[in-house]
Amino acid sequence: MSEHIKAKRVTTHVLNEMKLRGEKIAMLTAYDYSMARIIDGAGIDVILVGDSASNVMAGHETTVPITLNEMIYHASSVVRGVKRALVVVDLPFGTYQGNSKEALSSAIRIMKETGAHAIKMEGGREIQESVTRILSAGIPVMGHLGLTPQSIHKFGTYVVRAQEEEEAKKLIEDAHLLEKTGVFGIVLEKIPAKLAEEVAGSLKIPVIGIGAGSKVDGQVLVIHDMLGITQEFSPRFLRRYHNLNREIHGAVEKYINDIKNVDFPNDKEQY
Ligand code: KIV
Repeated sequence: MSEHIKAKRVTTHVLNEMKLRGEKIAMLTAYDYSMARIIDGAGIDVILVGDSASNVMAGHETTVPITLNEMIYHASSVVRGVKRALVVVDLPFGTYQGNSKEALSSAIRIMKETGAHAIKMEGGREIQESVTRILSAGIPVMGHLGLTPQSIHKFGTYVVRAQEEEEAKKLIEDAHLLEKTGVFGIVLEKIPAKLAEEVAGSLKIPVIGIGAGSKVDGQVLVIHDMLGITQEFSPRFLRRYHNLNREIHGAVEKYINDIKNVDFPNDKEQY
């Protein structure tokens, strides 16, 4: 086990210290106990129980349908597998937009029922009141700007965001507003690398990118994408570290063959 992995439990303060000393932050999604245990043991800094569970776990086309109860189920499973990483949970669509009281009660349910350490919310000034209310209850909040998949029906497409000056200007303002409001970090999704660099360079809090270039304070990917379980999703920013889809497919084919050929179980594999 490396020194890095033996290090103390990751908190929001540890992430700040990492930014200060220029150490990059490694973040991945997880949605279940077994995967969380593996990636925590490997030394990941932050685990995001993303609402991408709606896509990769439940097979929905968007993140819109996933419910608070479903996120709580995923998050509590993940927390049971984690000893070191900071666990951040997405507040799902419809549980915080436009009603700060409801936002607070959604965040409280996540914290009480899962044991997670923080929540993440999509949006800027539109959600400031909800962010403020949640922070006032002592719950750490992470922001998410750029491509915000919960608003897919407003955008209409998953193309790169903030390429035009006006949208870039709003994103910079939103990032500063979120920092001033008290979020401990911000995810920037699918925006030009230059813009992400400018945002990360002008904020004190850590900025984690996904499709936002290398000049930010850390990176996040969806675990099913980086392990090659999903095959159809191939954006430019995705680096696949494995082809688990092919591996699993091959292993299952072999298992089926072994059964059909009465090779499994053999004499040593029975009582
Ligand atoms: O839900 C998710 O997986 C996310 C990441 C893409 C940042 O929000």
